[in-house]
Amino acid sequence: MNYRHAFHAGNFADTMKHALLVWLMRALTAKPKPLFVLDTHAGIGRYDLKAEPARRTNEAAGGIEILLKGAAPPLDDYIKLVRQLGLYPGSPVLIQALLRPTDRLACCEWHPEDVRVLRRAMAGDPRVHIHHRDGYEALGALLPPPERRALILIDPPFEAPDEFDRLAAALKPAQARFPQGVYAAWYPLKHRAPSRGFHENLRLAGLRDIVAAEFFRAEPTDPARLTGCGLVLLNPPYGFEAAASEILDALADRLAEPSGGFAVSRIADE
Ligand SMILES: C[S@@+](CC[C@H](N)C(=O)[O-])C[C@H]1O[C@@H](n2cnc3c(N)ncnc32)[C@H](O)[C@@H]1O
Repeated sequence: MNYRHAFHAGNFADTMKHALLVWLMRALTAKPKPLFVLDTHAGIGRYDLKAEPARRTNEAAGGIEILLKGAAPPLDDYIKLVRQLGLYPGSPVLIQALLRPTDRLACCEWHPEDVRVLRRAMAGDPRVHIHHRDGYEALGALLPPPERRALILIDPPFEAPDEFDRLAAALKPAQARFPQGVYAAWYPLKHRAPSRGFHENLRLAGLRDIVAAEFFRAEPTDPARLTGCGLVLLNPPYGFEAAASEILDALADRLAEPSGGFAVSRIADE
């Protein structure tokens, strides 16, 4: 396990995922019934963007640092939260900030050091449980939740060459076990072939009701360069496609090169 999110926190891909995550949390907490959130690959929770790992890559300079200087209204909710939460928030901290008293959050992190840091970051909140376990395995172990309403964020490091296949293979039994769940899975875009293959695999696996929201900082033509990222949604809440388009458009306006942009497309019908 070489991937450490501290080197990449705040980059354009993080802001894309988190801006959509905040919208999803707002949409799913609009109804009074309790919500369970599972963050399968949680990271350490908070990141010091002035510390050595972030400074070494300087990736936040092309992401959150630009947005904090000003961005269009569809990003206001997310940016306001980042400002309020102090030290740069990762997915567990953003989710925690939007939980209501009756909601629950389970976070999985497999790196032994990172899980210790995450436990400290989330300590003292009875709504939050931290698991030192494989996030994919947790999909089987923790779903369906007693609440019967859940958001499942799957944000793997994509270190392994077969991560797209693992992701597709994990989503199929998860949706079969718990079809009401809203699944949001992040993936990188370097060139188009792997993501097209991934979408095709999801369709072939018989998964239903899928939308892909993709952000391109530049045209994805270089297999060696992270030029974009996607979030595939299974069972997206009402209004997701319109809201994601607005959010990604605002993001492209601030973070993309002229060849970049965004796409929100339906991969499989309900
Ligand atoms: C992209 S980072 C997560 C970032 C986080 N979701 C956020 O948005 O702030 C991926 C994390 O998954 C962890 N990880 C790697 N393999 C894992 C596994 N099999 N199960 C759970 N966590 C894993 C890595 O240590 C890393 O912290």
